[in-house]
Amino acid sequence: MKNILVTGGAGLIGSHTVDLLLEKGYRVRILDNLEKPTHLSGRPSYIPSRAEFIEGDIRSERDVKGALKGIDGVIHLAATGGFTPRIIEYLEANTIGTALMLQIIRNERLPIKKIVVASSVAVYGEGKYQCSKHGVVFPPIRPIEQMERKEWELKCPFCASELKALATDELTPVKPQKVYSVSKFDQERLVLGLGEEFGIPSAALRYFVTYGPRQSLSNPYTGLCSIFSTRLLNDLPAVVYEDGLQTRDFVYVKDVAAASVLVLESDKSDRQVYNVGTGNSLSVLDIAKTLSRIYKKDIAPEIGGKFRPGEVRHIVADIAKLKSIGFKPKYTFEDGIREYVEWIRSQGDVKDYFSRAQTDLTKDQVVRNCR
Ligand SMILES: NC(=O)c1ccc[n+]([C@@H]2O[C@H](COP(=O)([O-])OP(=O)(O)OC[C@H]3O[C@@H](n4cnc5c(N)ncnc54)[C@H](O)[C@@H]3O)[C@@H](O)[C@H]2O)c1
Ligand SMILES: [Zn+2]
Repeated sequence: MKNILVTGGAGLIGSHTVDLLLEKGYRVRILDNLEKPTHLSGRPSYIPSRAEFIEGDIRSERDVKGALKGIDGVIHLAATGGFTPRIIEYLEANTIGTALMLQIIRNERLPIKKIVVASSVAVYGEGKYQCSKHGVVFPPIRPIEQMERKEWELKCPFCASELKALATDELTPVKPQKVYSVSKFDQERLVLGLGEEFGIPSAALRYFVTYGPRQSLSNPYTGLCSIFSTRLLNDLPAVVYEDGLQTRDFVYVKDVAAASVLVLESDKSDRQVYNVGTGNSLSVLDIAKTLSRIYKKDIAPEIGGKFRPGEVRHIVADIAKLKSIGFKPKYTFEDGIREYVEWIRSQGDVKDYFSRAQTDLTKDQVVRNCR
């Protein structure tokens, strides 16, 4: 494999993946439509001149056909994400975009040797939990009425006692809840199912929460570290949903890029799905506090009784499967966040796009107030 197409290669994960592929001697082509509000000021300067850049859309047959010409391997990252009220757009870009790419590969009999598709932690909904009486359980997401009452923790579906989160492995049943999650699971199944049918080795990566330099500073719908940073740097409080004690597995983008290239190259990864995370969990409040300490902004986070229906309470990756093919995260959160903050400081003045978005999201009931 020599020629690799990275769709979404102008984005956070894509751009670091492109850098790593070039470093390893691959020839790289990017297909990216520079979606707004992620790319408000057009083509990012970090796109290397050594990569071929096609400004084009994964939903366009012409663009995708052109992008696939002469390609040996695909890392498919282009997608619409974030908490927004949109519905059809997720399916169009993610589900249909992936189906279109696969249809072109089949119709044109393209000699692709490997496809790696970006799935997400979101496919699990709530992951794996432990009940003291019932052992391992896989609870559904919390009902809206429960969240309105500010009862944040998960209850056992059998006895209603409070559950403890366990590390979620790939055998955990998927329960995609939001449209975004449904579309990510579609992508995963389409690539693995049709990949097998076409005889193309394929793998899906369930990325956990990824952060790092180049995470859009203008997209207020996704990217916790960037949203909190732009708030604090404008002397505004970080807005924390629920009580801030919900936990996530934050993984540094360079580790995510390394995992993606590892899976592209591994001949053991055919038809497999892998969690990509660190195995460590941090609360949202931990992130808010860490960033205000680093920025030396003594601004208490706003914990204002807001929540987002469908949001998961706790999820942390079991990464044993990815480790079994040679993955080892290199970055601790402290190291990763230091590099991220260094980058943000080099970006000049940053704006707060969140206040306005939050008003709209509340109007559209994507964000709700507790009773
Ligand atoms: N960042 C995370 O925490 C995270 C977690 C789980 C899964 N993922 C998945 O990883 C992939 C990359 O995410 P990211 O964090 O780098 O996001 P990102 O928004 O930084 O990058 C996505 C890129 O895709 C491009 N894009 C969007 N729609 C497109 C379209 N229709 N045609 C062509 N290009 C399009 C955007 O312009 C952007 O450059 C996505 O598939 C996302 O769903 C990300
Ligand atoms: Zn129980």
